[in-house]
Amino acid sequence: MEFLGTIMLRLVLHVALLFSFSFAGDPFAKFDLELSFITASPLGYPQRVIAVNGKFPGPTLNVTTNYNVVVNVTNKLDENLLITWPGVQMRRSSWQDGVLGTNCPIPPNWNWTYQFQVKDQIGSFFYFPSLNFQRAAGGIGSFVITNKNEVPLPFNTPDGDIVIMIGDWYIRNHKALRKDLDAGKELGMPDGVLINGKGPYRYSNTLVQDGIDHETIRVEPGKTYRIHVHNVGISTCLNFRIQNHNLLLVETEGYYTEQQSFTSLDIHVGQSYSFLVTMDQNASNDYYIVASARFVNQELWQRVTGVAILHYSNSKGKATGPLPDPPNDVYDKSFVVNQALSIRQNVSASGSRANPQGSFHYGSINVTDRYMLRSMPPVVIDGKLRSTFNGISFVNPNTPVRLADKFKVKGDYKLDFPRRPLRGPPRIDRSSINGTYKGFVEIILENNDTVVQSFHMDGYSFFVVGMAYGEWTNTSSTTYNMYNAIFRCTTQVLPGGWTAIMVSLDNVGVWNLRTENLDRWYLGQETYMRIVNPEENNTTELAAPDNVLYCGALGYKQKPQRTCSSSGSTISGKLPIKKALGGFFVLLAILFL
Ligand SMILES: *[C@@H]1O[C@H](CO)[C@@H](O)[C@H](O)[C@H]1NC(C)=O
Ligand SMILES: *[C@@H]1O[C@H](CO)[C@@H](O)[C@H](O)[C@H]1NC(C)=O
Ligand SMILES: *[C@@H]1O[C@H](CO)[C@@H](O)[C@H](O)[C@H]1NC(C)=O
Ligand SMILES: *[C@@H]1O[C@H](CO)[C@@H](O)[C@H](O)[C@H]1NC(C)=O
Ligand SMILES: *[C@@H]1O[C@H](CO)[C@@H](O)[C@H](O)[C@H]1NC(C)=O
Ligand SMILES: *[C@@H]1O[C@H](CO)[C@@H](O)[C@H](O)[C@H]1NC(C)=O
Ligand SMILES: *[C@@H]1O[C@H](CO)[C@@H](O)[C@H](O)[C@H]1NC(C)=O
Ligand SMILES: *[C@@H]1O[C@H](CO)[C@@H](O)[C@H](O)[C@H]1NC(C)=O
Ligand SMILES: *[C@@H]1O[C@H](CO)[C@@H](O)[C@H](O)[C@H]1NC(C)=O
Ligand SMILES: *[C@@H]1O[C@H](CO)[C@@H](O)[C@H](O)[C@H]1NC(C)=O
Ligand SMILES: *[C@@H]1O[C@H](CO)[C@@H](O)[C@H](O)[C@H]1NC(C)=O
Repeated sequence: MEFLGTIMLRLVLHVALLFSFSFAGDPFAKFDLELSFITASPLGYPQRVIAVNGKFPGPTLNVTTNYNVVVNVTNKLDENLLITWPGVQMRRSSWQDGVLGTNCPIPPNWNWTYQFQVKDQIGSFFYFPSLNFQRAAGGIGSFVITNKNEVPLPFNTPDGDIVIMIGDWYIRNHKALRKDLDAGKELGMPDGVLINGKGPYRYSNTLVQDGIDHETIRVEPGKTYRIHVHNVGISTCLNFRIQNHNLLLVETEGYYTEQQSFTSLDIHVGQSYSFLVTMDQNASNDYYIVASARFVNQELWQRVTGVAILHYSNSKGKATGPLPDPPNDVYDKSFVVNQALSIRQNVSASGSRANPQGSFHYGSINVTDRYMLRSMPPVVIDGKLRSTFNGISFVNPNTPVRLADKFKVKGDYKLDFPRRPLRGPPRIDRSSINGTYKGFVEIILENNDTVVQSFHMDGYSFFVVGMAYGEWTNTSSTTYNMYNAIFRCTTQVLPGGWTAIMVSLDNVGVWNLRTENLDRWYLGQETYMRIVNPEENNTTELAAPDNVLYCGALGYKQKPQRTCSSSGSTISGKLPIKKALGGFFVLLAILFL
C-alpha cells in the first residue's frame, strides 16, 4: 500500500494488544520499537546513547504466557542492528533470535518484524541490541512474561511491579569502546553504574559530582512490590541492595525459586531476578537503592556504584548516612559459592502451567554427551586481541547457519567444536557444536580468565548443578545438585573456578552460546550449537519467516527495502522525533514513496 506524505501517530509505550485469535488460539501482542541515538548525560557528560522510542532505557514489554509477540523494529542507527531476547526460548525458531550467527542484520533505516511465541514461559528477562557493542550505549528494556490468570503465583499477588535495570557504564561511547578493543586495549574501569539509565544520587560530595539526575522509585507504605532487577551492563558483577529492606527472592529468569531473604545479592551481567520487597519501614526518611561493583578492589572501584532513591509517599526526609554495606567476604571464598548454590528452584510451584515446574526429573536422566568449555584471558591471535572458548575464537559465518543449511551454502561454518580445550595454540575459527536432538548434555564451564564470567545459552534454560573454585575433576560430579538445581539461562563462572550445567536439547535450531561479558564476547568468546531433528520431513522446526533477511552468499536474494529517509542515506542523531504527551507518543513523519 502506498501513502504519500502520510503522518502517522503511533502508540509507543502502550501495547497495541490485538486480541485477534490465530489458528493457535493464543493472543497477539504487538509492539513498535524504534532505536535511535539521542544525547543524554547520565554521568554528567553529554554522550550519544541508544534510545528506544525516544526513551533511555527503553519501554518494558509486558506479555502473558503463550502470547504471540510481534515486534516491529526500526533501525534509526547508523549501523546494522539486531535485537536479541535472551531467555525467551523462541521455541523451534532461531530465525527470531537476533544474533549474527543465525540472523542477517537489519541495515540502517530499515524495519524488520520479529514474531515469536512465548510458549510455556513466565518470568523476567530483558532485550538488547546484540551487534557492534551497542549494548554499551543502551537500546535495552525489560521483557516480562506474566503468568496466566488460571495459574496461581507461589506467593501473594504483589501490589505492584517495579523494574530496575542496573549496569556499569562508560563515558566513552560504544564506538570508542570498540575502537579500544580493536586496538588491543582492555576497557579499564567503568566510569560508573547507571540505575534505569540514570547516574548516582549524590550520597557523597567527593564521589559524585553535582548536577547528575538520579532515579527515584516511589512506593506506598505497607505495600509489597515485585521488583524485577536486570544487570544490563557490560562486564561488571553488581551487588544489589536496598537500605533497611529485605529482598525476598522469588524468581530468576523464568523459574520460581525457593523463596529466601537476602540483604544483598550479586547480580552478574545478563542476569535477571525478581524480589518481593515489603515497604515495612517507618519512612523517617528515604532509602538508598545500591548496585556496587563486586569481585574488584572495592577501594579503587568506589565510583563504580549506582545509587537510586526509594521514596515512601509519606517519607519525612532525604536518605542519610553511609550506603548499606556489601557483603564482607574478603576472607571467605566460600561465601559466593554458597550464595549461588542456595538459589534453587521451587519444584512444587506451578510455573507457566498449573503443574509443578519441577516435574522434569532431570536427576534420573542419563547424560548423553559431555562438553568442557574453558575461557582464557584474551590473547593475541594473528596479530589481534581475541578471546576464546576451548582455544577457539569464534568468527561469524558470512551466511547465517540455518540459511546456509536451507540453501545448501557449503563450507560456511563447521561442526567441529572440540569437546575439550584444544591443546596447542589458540585459533580463530567458525567451529560450532553438533548437538544431538533430544540429547541430555552436561557442560562444564571452566574459567581460567581473571574476571568473573557470565555464561549464557540462547533457546534454552539449563540446570546449574554445581559450582566451585579450583579445577573440575571427575569426582566433582558427586557434589552436583540433582534434585532442585535452579533452571535458568545465564550463570556466573567464578575466576579460577567452574560451573556445571545440564541441558536437554529439545529445541531444534541453531543457538548461540556466549559469555555475556560484552568485551569478551566482542573478542570472540562464543559459539553456536546446531540441533536438528534427524527424522526426514519432520516439522519440528518452524519454517523461515516470509520476511527473512538474506546476506552473505545469499545477499543476491534480498529485495531492497524502501526506507523512510531519502535513498538509504545514513542518519545522524537528528531524528524526526518529537516527544509529546509526556513521552507516551511519538510523532513519526513517514514518507512512503
Ligand atoms: C513497521 O514499522 C515501519 C515503520 O514505521 C512501517 O513502515 C511498517 O509497515 C511496519 N511493519 C509492520 C509489519 O507493522
Ligand atoms: C504486566 O501487566 C500486568 C497486567 O497485565 C500487571 O499486573 C503487571 O504489573 C505488569 N508488569 C510489569 C513489570 O509491568
Ligand atoms: C522510625 O523513625 C524514628 C524517627 O522518626 C527513628 O528514630 C527510628 O529509628 C525509626 N525506626 C525504624 C525501624 O526505622
Ligand atoms: C513453593 O511453592 C509453593 C506453591 O506451590 C509455596 O506454597 C511454597 O511456599 C514455596 N516454597 C518456597 C520455599 O518458596
Ligand atoms: C541410564 O543408564 C543406565 C545404565 O547404562 C540404564 O540402566 C538406565 O536404564 C538408563 N536410564 C535411562 C532413564 O535411560
Ligand atoms: C552430527 O551428529 C549427528 C548425530 O547426532 C551425526 O549423524 C552427524 O554426522 C554429525 N555431523 C557432523 C558434521 O559431524
Ligand atoms: C577419575 O580419573 C581417574 C584417573 O584420571 C580414574 O582412575 C578414575 O577411574 C576416574 N573416576 C571416574 C569415576 O571416572
Ligand atoms: C589457569 O590455569 C593454570 C594452569 O592450569 C593455573 O595454574 C592457573 O591458576 C589458572 N588460573 C585461573 C585464574 O584459573
Ligand atoms: C518426505 O517428503 C518427500 C516430499 O514431500 C517425499 O517424497 C518423501 O517420501 C518423504 N519421506 C518420508 C520418510 O516421509
Ligand atoms: C517428529 O519427530 C518426533 C520425535 O522424533 C515424533 O514424535 C513426531 O511424530 C515427528 N513428526 C512428524 C511430522 O514426523
Ligand atoms: C518496513 O518494512 C516493510 C517490509 O519490509 C516495508 O514494506 C516498508 O517499506 C518498511 N518501512 C520503512 C519505513 O522502512
